[in-house]
Amino acid sequence: MIAPSILSANFASLGSQVREAEAGGADWIHVDVMDGHFVPQISFGEPIVRALRPVTRLPLDVHLMIEPVDPHLEAFAAAGADSITIHVEATPDPARTLQAISDLGVRPGLTLRPGTPVWAIWPYLDLAEVVLVMTVEPGRGGQAFMPDMLPRIAQVAERLAALDGERWLQVDGGLNSATTGAAVRAGAQVIVAGSAVFGREGGVAAAIDGLRGAAAG
Ligand code: DX5
Ligand code: ZN
Repeated sequence: MIAPSILSANFASLGSQVREAEAGGADWIHVDVMDGHFVPQISFGEPIVRALRPVTRLPLDVHLMIEPVDPHLEAFAAAGADSITIHVEATPDPARTLQAISDLGVRPGLTLRPGTPVWAIWPYLDLAEVVLVMTVEPGRGGQAFMPDMLPRIAQVAERLAALDGERWLQVDGGLNSATTGAAVRAGAQVIVAGSAVFGREGGVAAAIDGLRGAAAG
């Protein structure tokens, strides 16, 4: 699946950018929330989720790069998030936070920074329906894919295969037509892409097609 990240969209016409992504075959819309504290930049908050909810039928996949995270879950759920992915570093009790997301009727997701050892997420995998492997340092779009995260993708894929239920292995950061193939071969199922989708000369639909081709090839 392809999940365009609106972080790279034109915010002055966000609704039409999301419609363009949907018409172009996007599967999820990835929404990057940054607080200027957990990561250096500030992007936007829950009002953007609420504004986009009537614009698209696609799942809104909210990636929270915020700390603390627990006080904000309810607002993002109420705004219309379909999945909420939290950072294992951003909560004192990841199990409780993931359970709280489930209790709100939202698909719980778990991620970690590249510098955090992968075993930090093992105790919580069974509570996560989305597991996101960051392939750049979270905080901004347009960075280079970190190939040393490929073994981590494979390790997570192996662990998820041993668990029941529908679960998605997602990758985020530096995914483009040159890097997507390797990520998919390592086990990635959901490709988040910002700068490879929005603001490209050929348009959003062609960019999504290009990523799908790279995933298949
Ligand atoms: C980075 C965000 C990403 C970002 C990806 O902190 O989590 O979702 O938008 O951007 P690209 O695809 O440009 O690397
Ligand atoms: Zn993201």
